[in-house]
Amino acid sequence: MQTIGVIGAGLMGNGIAHIAAQAGYDVILSDVAMDRCAAARTTIAKNMARQVSKGVLNQAQADAALGRIRLTTDNGDFASADLVIEAATENEGVKGKIFARLADVLKPDALLASNTSSISITRLAAATGRADRFCGLHFFNPVPLMALVEIIPGLATSHETTAIMQAFAARLGKTAILAGDAPAFIVNRVLCPMLNEAIFALGDGVGSVADIDAGLKLGANHPMGPLALADFVGLDTLLSIMQVMQAGTGDPKYRPAPLLVKHVEAGWLGRKSGRGFYDYSGPEPVPTR
Ligand SMILES: NC(=O)c1ccc[n+]([C@@H]2O[C@H](COP(=O)([O-])OP(=O)(O)OC[C@H]3O[C@@H](n4cnc5c(N)ncnc54)[C@H](O)[C@@H]3O)[C@@H](O)[C@H]2O)c1
Repeated sequence: MQTIGVIGAGLMGNGIAHIAAQAGYDVILSDVAMDRCAAARTTIAKNMARQVSKGVLNQAQADAALGRIRLTTDNGDFASADLVIEAATENEGVKGKIFARLADVLKPDALLASNTSSISITRLAAATGRADRFCGLHFFNPVPLMALVEIIPGLATSHETTAIMQAFAARLGKTAILAGDAPAFIVNRVLCPMLNEAIFALGDGVGSVADIDAGLKLGANHPMGPLALADFVGLDTLLSIMQVMQAGTGDPKYRPAPLLVKHVEAGWLGRKSGRGFYDYSGPEPVPTR
């Protein structure tokens, strides 16, 4: 494989394009408008400059990697891709349309993957016309820093496709784990109910924001408290993952904490909105309860 397509130049897409170019692949990065692609390139350049200042890359390597990323809004450009990774908005309709448009463009043997956090890989595969050459490839945010990628074969994914994805992840310098095509896969399946439970505990008055976070940091050796982490993930994202798990399994143990729902209704979405379980308007986050 030499040419990697990335569809969606947002938070995850720019990170995936970054590490693929850094690993020596030619990258085609697309979004719905050129200004979004340009913003992604600016972000990648900034992140590579940080890597240069830390000695992870030298300037020539960073320049060469950036030079390997081509921006486009034209799906036709994916005709030369060996693998296309879809990292567009988490919406099944949006992703389905992208796959339908790609069907006539891609080389017959090209592989296709989705970075979805929650949508069934087997169901998405059905819209691609190449279910045997399709799988989930779930990166973590921020992509250049997080060591893990989950590879999620769908029901029809071939063993060969899974093996190629494992080799691809290794060349990117990531550790890959294989996850079943079940709601939220492995990491979010375990992590999100814990964050949700911390919000139940807060809502039930079991502890304050500061005490719950200090409890898990010092008592379970977690690098971040669960409420600070929920704010980092985004409370709307956390709510949507809990809803997918509840709907996908039918198990009430995944019901979202009422206080999580209330925060999302209030527009208190965590770090990105300036307020979640902490207030981020000052120099240091301040617990809100
Ligand atoms: N944010 C995370 O922490 C995280 C982690 C793992 C996986 N994911 C998954 O990665 C995917 C992207 O998430 P994100 O956080 O980068 O979202 P984002 O909103 O930052 O970026 C999505 C981008 O997709 C673009 N887009 C929408 N429709 C498109 C189309 N038809 N063609 C091309 N581009 C299109 C949008 O313009 C936007 O720039 C989602 O499936 C999400 O579930 C997110």
